[in-house]
This record gives sequence, C-alpha cells and structure tokens, in this order.
Amino acid sequence: MNISTTQPLLSPYRLGTIELPNRIVMASMTRGRARNRGLTPTDLHVEYYRQRASAGLIMSEGIWISRRAVGFINVPGLFSDEQVAGWRAVTDAVHAEGGRIYAQLAHSGAVSHPDFFNGELPLAPSAINPQQRSFTQDGFKDTVTPRAMTVAEIRQTIDDYAQAARNALAAGFDGVELHAATTYLLPEFLNSASNVRTDAYGGSAENRARIVLEILDALIAVWGAGRVGIKIAPTVRMGGFGPTAETVSTFDYLVARLDELALSHLQVVNAAGDLTGTPVDVLQNTVAYYRSRFDGTLIANLGFDEASGNAVIASGGADLVSFGQAFIGNPDFARRIKDGLPLAPSNRDTWYQGDAGGYIDYPGAA
Ligand SMILES: Cc1cc2nc3c(=O)[nH]c(=O)nc-3n(C[C@H](O)[C@H](O)[C@H](O)COP(=O)(O)O)c2cc1C
Repeated sequence: MNISTTQPLLSPYRLGTIELPNRIVMASMTRGRARNRGLTPTDLHVEYYRQRASAGLIMSEGIWISRRAVGFINVPGLFSDEQVAGWRAVTDAVHAEGGRIYAQLAHSGAVSHPDFFNGELPLAPSAINPQQRSFTQDGFKDTVTPRAMTVAEIRQTIDDYAQAARNALAAGFDGVELHAATTYLLPEFLNSASNVRTDAYGGSAENRARIVLEILDALIAVWGAGRVGIKIAPTVRMGGFGPTAETVSTFDYLVARLDELALSHLQVVNAAGDLTGTPVDVLQNTVAYYRSRFDGTLIANLGFDEASGNAVIASGGADLVSFGQAFIGNPDFARRIKDGLPLAPSNRDTWYQGDAGGYIDYPGAA
C-alpha cells in the first residue's frame, strides 16, 4: 500500500494564494544561534532552514521587531538592513528548495532584563514582575519589575511591528505570523493579571485586546490579510502569568474579531495539562473550542504526532498541524511521515544555545 497518498497530513492545502504540498507546518522555535552583535542570521540559519524546506510551511523562530523587543540572547531581529540581508539569504535558500517560510514577529515585553537595555527597565503593559527568567549574556537571570509603557510607547511599538513587517517583505518571506503565544508582550496585554492599565489599553477585554488588533491592522496594511496570521496559547502558564477568570471571555472577544479579518491563519496551542478546576477548563481541547469560533485556516499545535495529526485533519478539527520539537532532530520530518520512518531524538542541551552542533548536524533519514 502506498501510505503517502492516504495520509491527511500529506494532502495539499491552499493557504490563501499559496499552494502547500502538505499540511505539515514547522512551528516557531527559538534556537539562539545569532551569536553576533547585530543579532543577524548567518550561514548557519541558511542551512538550518534549507534543511527543513520540505515542510508544507515553515514558521521562523520568533524574530525581534526592534531593539526594545529583545529578551533572550542570540535571537535574531528584523530591524536593521543587515538583518534583512541575512533573512533574505534564508528565504532564498528555502525557496530554492521549493519551500515556503513565514516570519514570526516577537516582542518579549516583561520577560526580559535590564542587561539588554544598558540598565533600563524592560517595557510592559503594567509594572508587574512576570516572575520568570530571562536568558542573558551571563546566563539565566530573574526578571525584574518592568516599566509600564506610555501610550506614545505603545504607538511606537505598533510602528515597530509595521516596520518589521515591511522588512519581512523586503527579506522575501511568504507572510508573517504575530507571536501572541507564551507570555511575551501581547499575552501580557491580554491578561488581566499582567495588565492593570486604566486607559484605552486596559480594563475591558476590548481594551486589553486593542494593541493586538491595532498591530494586526498595521501588518495587514503591509501584507494584506491573507498573508498575516497569529499564534495564541490561552491556557499557558509561565512564572507569575497564567489564565484568569477573564481569559475565556477575553479570547472569545479576540477570536471573534480575528474571524472578521480574513487572516492567513489562526494557530492554536493546545492545553499542556489537565485544566480541571481551573478558570479555563472549557479550553481543555483548545483547538476544538476555537475551531467552532473561527472560520478561516486553523493550525493545531502542541504534542501532535503522526497519528493524532492525521486524525485531527481527517475529523475536520484543523486544516494544518504544526510540529515543533520533532523538527529539531528530523530536518526531513515530512519525508519520514511519508515513508513511515522512525523519528530521531534531539539533544535538549542545544535547543536554545550552541553553534552548528545540535542545529544543522541532524542527518536526514538514509
Ligand atoms: C526550542 C524551542 C523553542 C521555541 N521557540 C518558540 C518561538 O520562538 N515562538 C513560538 O511561538 N513558540 C516557540 N516554541 C513553541 C513551539 O512553537 C510549539 O508551540 C511547541 O514546541 C509545541 O509543539 P510540539 O509539541 O510539536 O513541540 C518553542 C519550542 C521549543 C521546543
């Protein structure tokens, strides 16, 4: 039997105007390999992404939109000409292999450290310490209490996203994904525990979601809605930030607005554990919850394998499935699914740091 033609994961999909040869998405992964002062992608990045071009679609690692967005060492940016040129080499290599790649636009908000800003405080919606750790030049350091953004700084940040979107276009990406997952700047705005502002950007769900929708408008002005997606993870808990009694209603509001925008996609991160007894227990199957509330392309994420990925597509539960960890050790992940080959493990010590080792030296299956 030729299993390759029967697997839903391997069926083609039309994402807006882009033809994807399969429904396997490589999820964004910070790998900490831009070990240079300019936070510029290098030949290592070119090779890493080139090796993974058989994915239906690659989501780049989270890329800083500005100097002020930094919160983790050696993560590349998209705010200088040098970075645009570096990313152009990456997208050219992926396209030469027949692949497609979106840029994931990121801002770390409070999950950063003064070491990145010559001693100045990180910027966030409110002056509340996220009680996490930031990976700095001197190793992991505890986060501090950030400074609340002024409205002028919020406007500047939206402009920074717009500039990064223009830079992504110049760098040859196929689209952009707004990083609104984990506990970076945008989830901090959405969450009533980390956003206690009393102006137009805090208080109601509408106000807490305002910055996300204003950024999306800015990205759409550059790219058109069909090339702009967003990734959300409403149930994630990290450090001092986690779901509250307002999380479900906040995301109900946000997703209803997203549904009106005719975006490229909504990527949803499933719950990582048992939500019984938490304020977000209705989100236990997060992907299913939002599937019924969003008409556009839905990408399911977290913990999927070949069987569950095929099942969620076959049942209509999602259009595409993204895989993170599996792509670290298996550059030819899509081919391994196609040919039923075993998956190789990866070395966690080099997930977030190192050089070529544990990055571009995982072989394809023989
Ligand atoms: C090393 C590593 C780095 C990650 N960096 C990012 C990132 O930059 N942006 C993001 O949205 N998610 C990031 N994630 C989360 C993944 O995109 C994905 O949501 C998560 O790994 C769950 O998918 P999986 O179970 O298939 O690995 C990262 C995950 C890993 C393992």
